[in-house]
Amino acid sequence: MERRTLGAAALEVGAVGLGCMPMNWAYTASQRRGDRSVRTVHAALDAGSTLLDTADMYGPFTNELLIGRALKQRRRDAFVSTKVGLLVGDQHVVANGRPGYVKRACDASLRRLQTDVIDLYQLHRADPEVPVEETWGAMAELVSAGKVRALGMCAMGVRPQGARGTRRVSGHLYEGTIRQLERLQQVFPVSAVQAELSVWSPQALERLLPWCEARGVGFLAAMPLGNGFLTGTLTPGQGFEPDDIRARHPRFTAEMMAANQPVVAGLRRIARRHGPGWTPAQVALAWVLGRGRNVVAVPGSKREEWAVENASAARLGLSPRDVWEVAGLPEARGSWD
Ligand SMILES: NC(=O)c1ccc[n+]([C@@H]2O[C@H](COP(=O)([O-])OP(=O)(O)OC[C@H]3O[C@@H](n4cnc5c(N)ncnc54)[C@H](OP(=O)(O)O)[C@@H]3O)[C@@H](O)[C@H]2O)c1
Repeated sequence: MERRTLGAAALEVGAVGLGCMPMNWAYTASQRRGDRSVRTVHAALDAGSTLLDTADMYGPFTNELLIGRALKQRRRDAFVSTKVGLLVGDQHVVANGRPGYVKRACDASLRRLQTDVIDLYQLHRADPEVPVEETWGAMAELVSAGKVRALGMCAMGVRPQGARGTRRVSGHLYEGTIRQLERLQQVFPVSAVQAELSVWSPQALERLLPWCEARGVGFLAAMPLGNGFLTGTLTPGQGFEPDDIRARHPRFTAEMMAANQPVVAGLRRIARRHGPGWTPAQVALAWVLGRGRNVVAVPGSKREEWAVENASAARLGLSPRDVWEVAGLPEARGSWD
């Protein structure tokens, strides 16, 4: 698989990674596959993906434990990317960016992952009660201590009020994030930013991705398949279990899923033009990869066959006509977050 380089530390990864979140978190619990997901990790590694994206919060903790088991014999094939700074409380997810906590959380992640170094340690969310420089300074000390190779920042849930959902208000999109990233850069280099980027959520293209590109910062495209919608395997009105994030997502009501079918139809048309076997999911991922040489797509899956299908999207070169057609697809209906 094509390799891409992340940030000043020049860490190399396969262009398509594996998002491990659906194995233990955010999607319907009854569909989880337990240790069968270990085989999914191995299938992704065999297909050339190296970056495995997890977080201590996923599970909580069980996703890191699973990755640790999966990598017992294969640590050298993988690039482990995990996150710190969000805790699952009784009612809510809460941020904790206190330096002492961050250092203890890193040791716990290392134990669960059964490794002595985390390749990319990402701040999941900044803690509003702790100056972000203090949190980032503690993370930088983990690099000095050899426990972490590079640092990343997640840019989700930090959009300014009023910036919801449309490209029209995009002048303000990610402004707060970029200010925060500038502050982090004063303390220690940001090697990667992780944010949502997909055919139906292209907002990061306007300010955030160019900011990363100009500074040689890697960009991890989260939710590149639109939480599964862009794969064309979901049916409008199918419904989601209450524990599935899509049960509360404005784009996954029966009405919005029906309204957004032209987006999937457009991806399917392009896939067909490339010949038998290509899928809308692969077109969606190829489009993400085409947005910049610093972009790594992180599609989430718990299934071996989909991890392999997604990895092969790195071989699908989109033509200028394909890209033009994607640009002409209708803007997604339903609020973005
Ligand atoms: N930093 C953050 O705050 C943050 C937030 C969200 C996500 N992320 C990261 O980004 C990754 C990707 O996001 P995501 O997993 O939420 O969304 P996604 O990649 O857009 O979509 C995942 C969904 O698509 C399905 N899927 C995957 N490949 C498919 C294929 N080829 N054909 C049909 N369906 C397919 C998966 O099903 P199965 O699960 O059944 O395989 C899953 O339901 C996560 O795993 C996580 O690592 C980070």
